[in-house]
Amino acid sequence: MRLFVLGATGSTGTQIVDLALARGHQVTAFVRSPRKIARRDKALTVIEGDPLRVEKLAPALRGHDAVLSALGPSGREAFRRSTLLAECAATTVAAMKTAGVGRLGSVSAALLFPEKALRFVVFRWLLQHHIRDLIAMEAVVRATNFDWTIARPPRLIKTSAETYRSERDALPAGAWEMSFRAVATFLLDCVEQGTHSREIVGLAGAAR
Ligand SMILES: NC(=O)c1ccc[n+]([C@@H]2O[C@H](COP(=O)([O-])OP(=O)(O)OC[C@H]3O[C@@H](n4cnc5c(N)ncnc54)[C@H](OP(=O)(O)O)[C@@H]3O)[C@@H](O)[C@H]2O)c1
Repeated sequence: MRLFVLGATGSTGTQIVDLALARGHQVTAFVRSPRKIARRDKALTVIEGDPLRVEKLAPALRGHDAVLSALGPSGREAFRRSTLLAECAATTVAAMKTAGVGRLGSVSAALLFPEKALRFVVFRWLLQHHIRDLIAMEAVVRATNFDWTIARPPRLIKTSAETYRSERDALPAGAWEMSFRAVATFLLDCVEQGTHSREIVGLAGAAR
């Protein structure tokens, strides 16, 4: 498949690129800082660009089978008011329409589920601005008639684990953390197998 990755320099995006190449896909990483991608691979194309600019995104997107988006606010930005993700979703959707690409996988967050455990309540409060942006981002994606999948993972950690549990519209039992790589595995499985179309999916690592 020809896959177009947004947020390819980030923790999740790096895993998406790595796993997609390992699975034999052609990958385009559309990034604002190409120097952050040290990897060289004949199946990897790095394009410099701003995901907020449709006129740059649309031509770059042409000919791809799917877009995988793992954009996120960098560092302290997550604690400030932002519309970055909602705006990027809007430009991505507009560019996909222009380019005739209809498959989209986006990373959101488990904090959007109405979990009542104290840790969810605390993190929802701490990350309230980011969560507002994620909700708006999801609304933009859900309003399309694309074949979309929204992944809502819990806290992410750097391990090589690729196993995940998934549940439509809910957080799998006992979900607290999982690996960035397992989120990448889930999104790639979805686009390869054509599963979870037009679904919000809660994710978790392997059961302990
Ligand atoms: N990390 C977690 O524990 C966790 C848990 C649950 C859900 N999530 C969700 O997963 C998503 C990805 O998280 P992550 O930890 O992989 O993110 P990350 O490592 O911070 O990567 C964020 C990506 O977005 C890009 N980006 C940020 N601001 C940008 C801007 N203004 N213009 C263009 N690109 C921009 C970054 O590019 P640069 O490299 O150029 O900055 C980077 O590629 C987030 O939306 C988050 O809500 C994360």
